[in-house]
Amino acid sequence: MTRRLIKSGFSRCFKVLDFLIKPSNMKFFIDTANLRDIEEAKELGILDGVTTNPSLMAKEGVCGIANIERHYRIIAEMVEGDISAEVISTDFKGMVEEGKRLADLAPNIVVKVPMIKDGVKALSYFANIGIRTNCTLVFSSAQAILAAKAGATYVSPFIGRIDDTNWDGMDLIAEMSAIYNIQGFESQILAASIRSSKHIVDAALAGANVVTCPLNAIYGMLNHPLTNIGLAKFLEDYHKLNGLATASSIIGTAQV
Ligand code: G3P
Repeated sequence: MTRRLIKSGFSRCFKVLDFLIKPSNMKFFIDTANLRDIEEAKELGILDGVTTNPSLMAKEGVCGIANIERHYRIIAEMVEGDISAEVISTDFKGMVEEGKRLADLAPNIVVKVPMIKDGVKALSYFANIGIRTNCTLVFSSAQAILAAKAGATYVSPFIGRIDDTNWDGMDLIAEMSAIYNIQGFESQILAASIRSSKHIVDAALAGANVVTCPLNAIYGMLNHPLTNIGLAKFLEDYHKLNGLATASSIIGTAQV
């Protein structure tokens, strides 16, 4: 208990220091349990954290408690920022036991808790003992208020899945952002279920503090035909004078 309180004190100090040192611009998390994708995103130098969920872990074939915990430890060592690890239990006692175990795996593990009644209880409990949390499966502002009130560190609205039901996921981000600002809630809005680079831009504009996205959505942000055409032309003009490559091979290399 004492160890946990000391840890919580440290984590609060780091949070304040982090806030004072870094401008609070939007963080980029990658939404995957795939180690190669995480490494690739890390190499871009823009990665602030990782989110996982039981479906993403299953996609990588990671099963059994020992393997799952080992996988979380590997990710937590690869990336300095926050790593969300989700509980499987749906009752308060189970979530607390599981969450404590996950939080003990590494200091940058954030316990992901679903937006259900016992989940809200668990969020409050974890907040009181200094364990950071990510409230997942948020689809309405009412749920977002409950999660923030319970002290969730991150609150994750699922943008793509809202769009799938013919509602606009971005409206939820904008509404949450307005509510959190008006009410002074400290939870960070973590835009999840991101499917495209447009989602990332829209989430930034709507006031998300964090976006978590698959690697292809991050790479999608690089694309603009005029960049490719412009670069090919620069290189072609250079090579006209300097010889070497052909125009078609230049265009090939210039495309991202
Ligand atoms: O971050 C939540 C995410 O993994 C869900 O994404 O595309 O399955 O809705 P998606």
